[in-house]
Amino acid sequence: MELIKSENKNNHEISINSQIKKFAINGLYGFNTIILIGMGRRLGIFNYLYEKVKSSHSSGKNIEVIFTPIELSENLNLDFKYLDGWFHLALECGILEIENSEKKILKTAPYVYDLLVDPNNEFYIGGTLGAFYYIAPAQNTFIENFKTGKVWSILDLPGDVMKDLQERGARFGTLVERLFSKKFENFCKNVLKKGTILELGCGYGFNLETWAKKYTNARFVGIDIDPNALAHAKKLIELNMWNERIEIFDIEIDEFARSFKKKFDLIILNQVLHEMNTDENYRRGVFNNLYSLLKDNGILLIGESMIPDTFTPKKRFQLFDITHKFTEVKASLFYNEKSFKEFIDSTPFTKANFIREGGDSIWVVKK
Ligand SMILES: C[S@@+](CC[C@H](N)C(=O)[O-])C[C@H]1O[C@@H](n2cnc3c(N)ncnc32)[C@H](O)[C@@H]1O
Repeated sequence: MELIKSENKNNHEISINSQIKKFAINGLYGFNTIILIGMGRRLGIFNYLYEKVKSSHSSGKNIEVIFTPIELSENLNLDFKYLDGWFHLALECGILEIENSEKKILKTAPYVYDLLVDPNNEFYIGGTLGAFYYIAPAQNTFIENFKTGKVWSILDLPGDVMKDLQERGARFGTLVERLFSKKFENFCKNVLKKGTILELGCGYGFNLETWAKKYTNARFVGIDIDPNALAHAKKLIELNMWNERIEIFDIEIDEFARSFKKKFDLIILNQVLHEMNTDENYRRGVFNNLYSLLKDNGILLIGESMIPDTFTPKKRFQLFDITHKFTEVKASLFYNEKSFKEFIDSTPFTKANFIREGGDSIWVVKK
């Protein structure tokens, strides 16, 4: 095997300048953007800008939020010099722009309000980018794990980090619902109109919320094994006055399957599969239980990152999925399309359809 390639055929197509741009310039912009967003969220900067727009009753597309550094420093009680540093870098990274340099007035750059400030906007990516920010403080644990091969549990993460990460995962749930309701229009119209839905691994309840808002006459059960998450889910249910429609249980699936006597029209697993105990027999047990809890004409809907093996030639944009693998590499077990199909073949389910449209995908599994 040739060990050193001094003259790669591609070398003359890629200049050293373009590689400098890729690693140093784009890398630094990306790194700083993540740090700025992560810190901006923790310091309450984005929240302040959001409340400012809400209290002014502004609406419409491409809102620009105009403010002064002094205003933020005073309202958030933050040191002016540190804040000035944050603003300067945010201007450099294109999050902010100067509205009036003489009067020292700033504004959010185009679409920054939609993308990073308004958490209810359909294009909001602040949560996703904010979640990557947590990779930085987790580094010491990572380095230790690289050296020892230790497995950490996702449940070891602090509650606020978990909540943030789950809000990000629930965004995928919205995309899953959208794709599912498009491809299974009749099932959603007829069955889910008054149907029963189980979410296994409902966590903080963000995904349940999406479904409950859309299928207003359906009844839901959410189960999970993280009591912190379930406490939050219960609050969400109370806040929306859904106590009649949604039940939440802190219970293992096998115990739930033994004790719960009714069957469901739809069972949802959104971003849960990879986080489950990585033992294949355990997972098979879970699917046996799901089989017994599903009606004969019911659907098991799975939203999950499908991650090809490392050396599979790259076919499409997969930055988020691969980052997911990197951050949870030993705490999780991800599948690719082939290995998941093989796994389903080892369970009582007989049909598993992988449906992809654009960047979104779902597994629709049936008896
Ligand atoms: C990424 S979160 C997804 C939460 C929710 N489905 C959503 O989309 O917002 C994964 C959840 O699966 C839960 N989980 C993992 N293994 C589980 C198991 N064996 N039984 C029930 N829940 C489980 C975790 O506690 C966590 O709350």
